[in-house]
Amino acid sequence: MTHLEIRTARTRLHALVLALTVALVGLSTGGCDDAATSSATPASEVEVVPIPRIADASAITGLHHNAQQGTLAEGVMGRRNALQWTSAMVAVNGHETFNRAIAVTGADFLASQATQDKEASSYALDWGVSVAAGKAFGVRLRSQVSHPGSPQTRVTTATTYTVSDSDIVVPSSAIIDATHRSDLVAAMTRALRKANLLEDNATLNPDKAFNDLVLRVDGGALAVLTSTDQPLLDRDLVGLALPPALVTPALSREGTTLMRALAAQPDAPAQASAQETAPADTAGTAGETFAGFGSADPAPFVEAPRPRTSEPADCSHVRCVALTYDDGPGDHTARLLDILKQYNVPATFFVIGRHAAAHPELVSREVGEGHAVGIHTWSHPDLTKTSDSDIASQITRTSDLLASTISTRPPFTRPPYGAINSRVTHALGSLGQGIIMWDVDTEDWRNKNAQTVYDRALAGVHPGAIILMHDVHRWGPDATGRLIATLKSRGYVFVTIPQLFGDIQPGRQYFSQHEIH
Ligand code: NI
Repeated sequence: MTHLEIRTARTRLHALVLALTVALVGLSTGGCDDAATSSATPASEVEVVPIPRIADASAITGLHHNAQQGTLAEGVMGRRNALQWTSAMVAVNGHETFNRAIAVTGADFLASQATQDKEASSYALDWGVSVAAGKAFGVRLRSQVSHPGSPQTRVTTATTYTVSDSDIVVPSSAIIDATHRSDLVAAMTRALRKANLLEDNATLNPDKAFNDLVLRVDGGALAVLTSTDQPLLDRDLVGLALPPALVTPALSREGTTLMRALAAQPDAPAQASAQETAPADTAGTAGETFAGFGSADPAPFVEAPRPRTSEPADCSHVRCVALTYDDGPGDHTARLLDILKQYNVPATFFVIGRHAAAHPELVSREVGEGHAVGIHTWSHPDLTKTSDSDIASQITRTSDLLASTISTRPPFTRPPYGAINSRVTHALGSLGQGIIMWDVDTEDWRNKNAQTVYDRALAGVHPGAIILMHDVHRWGPDATGRLIATLKSRGYVFVTIPQLFGDIQPGRQYFSQHEIH
């Protein structure tokens, strides 16, 4: 990351924090005058309070901002509307476990949005700091969904915590011990009724009542509720102050750990201090003692530059993944190319020669749109059962065709079925071919299910992985948009096979970036 990029990221961060602050304050001032007036509230009562401004993320060292955006087209994954999505995520120096948890939470938000709400037109995910004090640090993720023709946006928020000198990750929902939740929910319900903020006869959804719990240095907590998750009247967001007398006995083990971290002295000397931007009387958290996370270079995880064919990612420093599609061109190739173009993601196509001969325009389009093309033989035989001279003709015939179609002779082949032995390896090597295998098999042709393709790809993916799918069946292309969105939000960069390996050597076998024989 250059200095200029850091500056740009900082500026974006500032703008984002400002926008979040304005939004939260704007939402919380709507009816808060009536809320904080009771002066005689007993120490064990829940109170409706204004939601404080979030801590100033730009004052905390060691945070990195990673923004992505894209479009899911109408028809993709059964969508009735195109979905414009933006995702802004934070990563913290040296806290890989926390970073992964935040990224997975964000990816799951987006994936469930895309599959469950097929009519939404836009989706925005952003973040802010909800707690930064002592050694405790909490990130709030906020998603906003809009529908065409509706002025209302649906807002959901959740806070996730870590402790600056440990590897723990605690979602807000785990702070309150399960045996105490119903008592707290009852107290919260009473406070909302008293303030006329709950629909008649409605009850709070206990499963979502503690998703955004902001711990306070005095031992209390602020619960942020949204009208998306709860039957609130008149308000999109409501803050409920839970006093220490209610919170302390209800804390889970993780909650107790966090509360202690909140009161702990940060490791001195602090490189910079986080400052609460809100007035002290409304602030839920003290931020002035938080030491930050150090200013080391950001982990590769957060660096997700957009790949360009002319400027491939350096896979020794970023998390690369190669999507590969076999057996085409076929019925689903054009649609797949549309999806890849939407996400600006390159892939590698292992074409069967006779299919390429039938659809030269699709092979031309693959190359023209920045993808790589490899050889998958002329007619897809098992090469271990094919004579040396027939292997030569399978490769040469396909290579000749591609030379005349796309002016390229690919120096690499994927053997059909992945079937190789030492004779086949030698024969392909003597034809100048590197052997490209895979290490994540989606088994799309066998399971015939896009969800399974998506699940298997995510279960197997790792930096440097090669993922196998097919563009002659629908299930791989069906899963591709959602898979790309999730992988991008986890920091992956997409590369072609030549970009992943650089020079491909004849006769060598490539299973992944780190497994080459
Ligand atoms: Ni095949």
